Amino acid sequence: MATNDPTPRVTLEAITALAKRRGFIFGSSEIYGGIGGFFDYGPLGAILKRNVKAAWWREMVEVRGDVVAFDSSIVMHPSTWIASGHVAQFVDKLVDCTNCKHRFRLDHLPSLETCPDCGMRGTLTAPRNFNLMMQTSVGPLEDSAAMTYLRPETAQGIFVNFKNIYQSARKRPPFGVAQIGKSFRNEITPGNLTFRQREFEQAELEFFVPDDGNDLAWYERWVDARKRWYSDYGVSAERLRFYELKPEERPHYAKAGIDVEYLFPWGWGELESIAHRGTYDLDAHMALSGKDLTYFDEATKAKYTPILIESSAGMDRTTLTMLIDAYDEETITDASSGKETRRTVLRFHPKIAPVQVGVFPLARNKPELVARARRLEGELRSHLRSQYDEGNVGQLYRRQDEIGTPFCIMVDYQTLDDDTVTVRDRDTMRQERLSVDALRSYFAERT
Ligand code: GAP
Repeated sequence: MATNDPTPRVTLEAITALAKRRGFIFGSSEIYGGIGGFFDYGPLGAILKRNVKAAWWREMVEVRGDVVAFDSSIVMHPSTWIASGHVAQFVDKLVDCTNCKHRFRLDHLPSLETCPDCGMRGTLTAPRNFNLMMQTSVGPLEDSAAMTYLRPETAQGIFVNFKNIYQSARKRPPFGVAQIGKSFRNEITPGNLTFRQREFEQAELEFFVPDDGNDLAWYERWVDARKRWYSDYGVSAERLRFYELKPEERPHYAKAGIDVEYLFPWGWGELESIAHRGTYDLDAHMALSGKDLTYFDEATKAKYTPILIESSAGMDRTTLTMLIDAYDEETITDASSGKETRRTVLRFHPKIAPVQVGVFPLARNKPELVARARRLEGELRSHLRSQYDEGNVGQLYRRQDEIGTPFCIMVDYQTLDDDTVTVRDRDTMRQERLSVDALRSYFAERT
């Protein structure tokens, strides 16, 4: 973290505790002691992640006419990973300590002299390659013919299907193919909650363009589209940066590349990579499979390999970003008593908030209020993500603030007389009285 970077919103410990307490993220198989690099999304986390994916899908596919949907299998023919370069190159260099048996990534070691864990000198082994792909066997035989991998990225499923896709969808470059799905990498040092996992979800757009000199303009357009997306969903601009890779930092075939980075509690970390990949991927699959993956343009009779622009975003990292970026703590002063209290609030964008409106009766022991509040919540449910709750009013608001609910509705005695309710805004904490009839349009404008 550089000295002029804004201070982190929250510590990793605080966000991990909140994520568990409120049902966003749990460690996988905790009752057996957990398993490093795997996580489960709780009742609210599952909705938050779905909303993040839906927001990506909406912008990248649904509102455009030039991107088609795809959903490929996780296990693919092993040759896929030879052609893609993953078998030979998707490796980290590892070093073991022969004394304490700890294992390190070479690029994380300050020197090869002394083990950073046990402090012994001369106990570190020479570096060796460790492939990050997870192996699996297919069918009842466990010989090498049946061995393959869980995909380390979703993109290859699109490349090997390029011809199937453009022919069946009747698409002509420039057009894109989008997919969201699980990927697996046997990371040596998983950590920072869901930031570095061994099983995670990617949202990838592979955009194929003709070789007509407009490829870099398309790349720029996609960088702009992705900048807009983060801004539309409220990710703070001062904690987001688009780091342009220098020529020596990108693969030789790539004309340009950008890492989208967020300022996490532990420093800047990559959320997404946007890359101009040339014709590398389709060429590699054509060379190994012997199959033609060029595009034949019926109109011009030209046959060519399209150039690829890729945007590859981690959905778990984006979800974690939304959680961290939404986090806020503030001191509030009660208007009548002057008493000061602290509140924790998640300022989620209303489109991604797991609960958009909480509905409560003023008193849980008044059956007429409870019945009216339950009925209202049931009516709102088909338009909004709503939640009924009851109890101490202060605690109800505190809980909804902490899970990031943008609006809360209170059903009180006046509701029974004139069918009005109070609506409280999470961020300003201001309350206004509205007629139940007006709620639908009120929320339609704000969510
Ligand atoms: N097809 C290109 C590709 O896979 P990448 O930069 O290796 O590019 C894209 O991965 C994104 O996937 C990353 O920016 C990150 O958000 C996510 N990602 C990669 N490894 C991850 C891991 N171990 N845990 C969580 N997310 C990961």
